[in-house]
Amino acid sequence: MIGLFDSGVGGLSVLKAIVQNNINEDFIYFGDTKNVPYGTKTKEQILSYTHDIMRFFIDKHVDIAIMACNTSSALVYEELNKEFSNKIKICPLIQNAAPYFKNENNTIGVISTNATAKSHAYTKEILKYNSSAKIVELECQKFVEIVEKRLYNDASSIEYIKNKAEFLKQSACKKVILGCTHFPYLVPILTKFAPDIEFIDPANYLIKAIKNELTNIGAQKNNSTYRFYVSSNPENFQQSGSLFFDIKEPAELIEFARV
Ligand code: DGL
Repeated sequence: MIGLFDSGVGGLSVLKAIVQNNINEDFIYFGDTKNVPYGTKTKEQILSYTHDIMRFFIDKHVDIAIMACNTSSALVYEELNKEFSNKIKICPLIQNAAPYFKNENNTIGVISTNATAKSHAYTKEILKYNSSAKIVELECQKFVEIVEKRLYNDASSIEYIKNKAEFLKQSACKKVILGCTHFPYLVPILTKFAPDIEFIDPANYLIKAIKNELTNIGAQKNNSTYRFYVSSNPENFQQSGSLFFDIKEPAELIEFARV
């Protein structure tokens, strides 16, 4: 079984990429909608939230946990992996994407949450494979709220997205990594303002790693099943998430007991 988690609907873009790549499995998805956004939280807070999620996944017999959240991949992957690797295989986004930029000579843009930008996780990971890489990081935290609350058509949202696109154009980025799983949903608007930029979804770089893990555990299914869980407001998850993924069953509300 594969478990994916994110602060909200963002990780559905990762689930979509997996499904589009013909990976069949039993999937469970956890949206931590009680604690969204993660990008404005501290490392300690994110560690506490993701601990609960890992325990939930282990209870549900998840074999592979996909961190469909860049902020968690940036801040707490190492800690989680150290603690849970004997029980569950954890697949982070940033660490799997970075090797694919090893031959990139042009300036690489990375748009992300506040916390991911501040951590410089993308820069650090890409430099491991490409020591002369030129990377420009830009926080776009408000994109998360725009997607979660479906504020696409608000004048202030459009102005905010336009300003971010202008900055990327001025930074001479040809390729921009969507360093937050909520952002692929905004590519049509971003492309309108920055038509010459190629926006790259790092979820596509996870596919090979997932296929390898499924082979390692001997999993081979012909069909997929999906179950969705949230920590708050299932209705909003359904409304926002259904724009990106065919959520057939309403999400189940899960409240973790605090010890
Ligand atoms: N979608 C997540 C990410 O990729 C978290 C966004 C947020 O909650 O701030 O970083």
